[in-house]
Amino acid sequence: MSADDYKRQAAERALAYVTSGMKLGLGTGSTAAAFVDLLGKRVSEGLDVICVPTSEATRRQAEALGIRLTTLDSEPFLDLTIDGADELDSQLRLIKGGGGALLREKIVATASDRMIVIADTSKHVETLGKFPLPIEVIPFGLTATLGMIEMLAQDCGCDGELKVRTTASGEPFRTDSGNLIVDAHFGAIEEPEELDAALKVVPGVVENGLFIGIADTAVVAGPEGVVVIEADYEDDDDTSEAGS
Ligand code: A5P
Repeated sequence: MSADDYKRQAAERALAYVTSGMKLGLGTGSTAAAFVDLLGKRVSEGLDVICVPTSEATRRQAEALGIRLTTLDSEPFLDLTIDGADELDSQLRLIKGGGGALLREKIVATASDRMIVIADTSKHVETLGKFPLPIEVIPFGLTATLGMIEMLAQDCGCDGELKVRTTASGEPFRTDSGNLIVDAHFGAIEEPEELDAALKVVPGVVENGLFIGIADTAVVAGPEGVVVIEADYEDDDDTSEAGS
């Protein structure tokens, strides 16, 4: 089976958490898109949900499928957000933003009672950081912002190239909010909480792709089947894994 098959399996399993009447956050990326496709089918069969998309791409996809959409201004509290991730560890700490949607993704997930991450097994890592950490920054003062990120990250034991993301035609990539993305090639991030807190201090940083204490459940599909990991935020050292 291919990674796409596993993404679809994870999306299918996550659909079981959705019930009529729910207000949903819809993630961004290929795994989230597989979920939105399946959700669209259920909606066409009569499932009644209302959704907030985390990107313009997801909004267009959901609209085309006839999924009822709203905004966080109309519905500031959501029941459930389902989204992909670029990496997740066993404590359900995530790196997100590979698709450039991390800011809206974090706003929507945080406004939700529950967040379920869906992924193929290649995303489940022991230590976060092999995937470059996306950091959304405003264009003003970019060089100063990069310097501050570098300095504060080094204090957290993170060192590596900071690359301003570009499009295929070489233009700076712009997020849906008009900002830039810096991809930080730190390698292993041993203390994600510390790095997250440090990045939040930099005025030019809008948000970073570390999602800590946000995801409640991960549905991870791979050759061994679908594994559901539940976060236990009461006791950080204890997460339970239930195979099926
Ligand atoms: C979008 O900005 C990201 O956070 C995605 O959720 C992440 O990149 C996962 O994307 P895939 O499902 O395409 O791997």
